[in-house]
Amino acid sequence: MSRYLRLGVNIDHVATIRNARGGEHPDPVKAAIAAAAAGADGITAHLREDRRHISDGDISRLMAEIDLPLNLEMAATDEMLDIALRHKPHAACIVPEKREEITTEGGLDARRLLGQLAPVVGELSNAGIRVSLFIEADPAQLDAAVSLGAPVVEIHAGAYCEAAGPARASELRRIVEAAAYAEGLGLECHAGHGLGFDTVGPIAEIETIVELNIGHFLIGEAIFGGLDSTIKRMRALMDNARASAAGDRTA
Ligand code: PXP
Repeated sequence: MSRYLRLGVNIDHVATIRNARGGEHPDPVKAAIAAAAAGADGITAHLREDRRHISDGDISRLMAEIDLPLNLEMAATDEMLDIALRHKPHAACIVPEKREEITTEGGLDARRLLGQLAPVVGELSNAGIRVSLFIEADPAQLDAAVSLGAPVVEIHAGAYCEAAGPARASELRRIVEAAAYAEGLGLECHAGHGLGFDTVGPIAEIETIVELNIGHFLIGEAIFGGLDSTIKRMRALMDNARASAAGDRTA
């Protein structure tokens, strides 16, 4: 039996649209509730230092109003650590963050930042928060996650999604190899960033990956298809890819 693949829906960009005009519409918490009804297994939100999309109030409301586990994406700063410890979300995914970037540009250099990350991972873990590190598909970064005692890694899928032709195949191979290496190290493996209908299948086929976090594409596509049917279609693509991988294995 293949392992279930969870879908974490990232609702940041509902808040991006809300913030374009101020006010309360569209409400990311309402989107989270709709995502849950459509089959999401978790909600992901990134509270950025500059609060460009998700706000502190959104995190409070997500904690109070949704039943699904919340995965808080956060930079490894004292401010974010305090916020995470106050809310105690189910999970915290530590991401690199630069003020001037449009979106998270790459994985965390966990190997270089061991000293800075160790106390953050330790305090989150001691509070019962499941810590993941958003890293590149690189064995050295996976080794660093083990050294830090992080139980989960999220592999950055952005380069795979942006590449075309043979370059995409080689980026996919890197992710496949990293997911296998993570499994050997006893790490729970997630993937995310940039995934859409056209790119999700080969990642969903990697049976050692147990969670995908997807945001921008789902929120953008919902303009055309509605959030409910967009999430359901993503869920179906993930399930079909996972089932076909399991079928290939047993054939
Ligand atoms: N995972 C992580 C760690 C991220 O930082 C992001 C973007 O906020 C995502 C997943 C979702 O990426 P996208 O919005 O491109 O689907």
